[in-house]
Amino acid sequence: MKILVTGGAGFIGSHLIEGYQAAGHVIVVVDDLSCGLRQNVPAGVTFYEADIADIAPIVARERPEVINHHAANMSVKVSVDDPQLDARINVQGLLAVLLAATQHGVRKVVYASSGGTVYGMPQTLPIAESHPMMPLSPYGITKMAGEHYLRFFATERGLASTILRYGNVYGPRQLPHGEAGVVSIFAQKMLANEAPRIDWDGEQRKDYVYVKDVVDLNMRVLTAGDGEIYNVGSGTATTVNDLYRHLAELIQYTGKPVYGERRPGDLREFYLDCAKATAELGWPTPTPLATGLAETCGWFARQAKQA
Ligand SMILES: NC(=O)c1ccc[n+]([C@@H]2O[C@H](COP(=O)([O-])OP(=O)(O)OC[C@H]3O[C@@H](n4cnc5c(N)ncnc54)[C@H](O)[C@@H]3O)[C@@H](O)[C@H]2O)c1
Repeated sequence: MKILVTGGAGFIGSHLIEGYQAAGHVIVVVDDLSCGLRQNVPAGVTFYEADIADIAPIVARERPEVINHHAANMSVKVSVDDPQLDARINVQGLLAVLLAATQHGVRKVVYASSGGTVYGMPQTLPIAESHPMMPLSPYGITKMAGEHYLRFFATERGLASTILRYGNVYGPRQLPHGEAGVVSIFAQKMLANEAPRIDWDGEQRKDYVYVKDVVDLNMRVLTAGDGEIYNVGSGTATTVNDLYRHLAELIQYTGKPVYGERRPGDLREFYLDCAKATAELGWPTPTPLATGLAETCGWFARQAKQA
């Protein structure tokens, strides 16, 4: 199958490419390298350095069967500071992708949404897909709007889609920016023997999902899950303090963290009910946190040695 991955030079997108390539798919990437790195894109991929706003001629030329849309502004802070920029990428950019898809015979779009932001303050835990959406940030609002556009394009234009609402994804190659990058921020600080900063008291509990599990689900929805929404998390909550302790043990870092202010809008507790993906798509039990963190730390340690 030919798959066009937007944001393929980024953290999650680059892992998707590896998974798709291993399964024998042909991959085209569109990424403007605003955050991603060219070296993240493996050999054998057709790479376009382009803004998703300009994707139409690329889709016309390449004629992919599926577009997996991961290009986005993924920073809540950027969205708060500059909501117009966030909307330009996450809404107008998405519309450019959807219009190009319908004009040029794409069968399906897979959409990376955000389980950590579209629901807003949890009313029940774990959060199921049916939980109301009341996002607290412009980023959460644009991700939610994107979901509604997908529904419109499915019902009115016949473009199939699957929405994946991710928890906090972590793993190798994650850049230490953005709120979801806490694992990579802590790991890189500890490896450099610098004290990581924990915002708030560290007792906030979040859902951390390993990037390999995210890739697994993205593989499954190529041929299943049309018209569906799936939470993509670990189904459990881990405190930031516990995450810190795990990483410090793996890296053998003995320093103490520095505690800072609570980030505006930060949630006390959030974790996702992922039973639907397991029941409908056969998505397996998530990778244990200890395994995912060990692999991630190993990768960052090798990077630090090479630098
Ligand atoms: N990382 C997480 O924990 C997480 C959680 C929920 C949702 N998501 C979503 O998953 C997707 C990928 O996230 P990530 O963590 O890999 O982020 P990332 O920043 O590593 O990757 C995003 C990629 O998109 C590219 N990009 C940005 N704007 C672009 C534009 N206008 N045109 C073309 N390319 C553009 C960037 O250069 C980058 O390579 C995003 O849609 C994000 O909102 C991520």
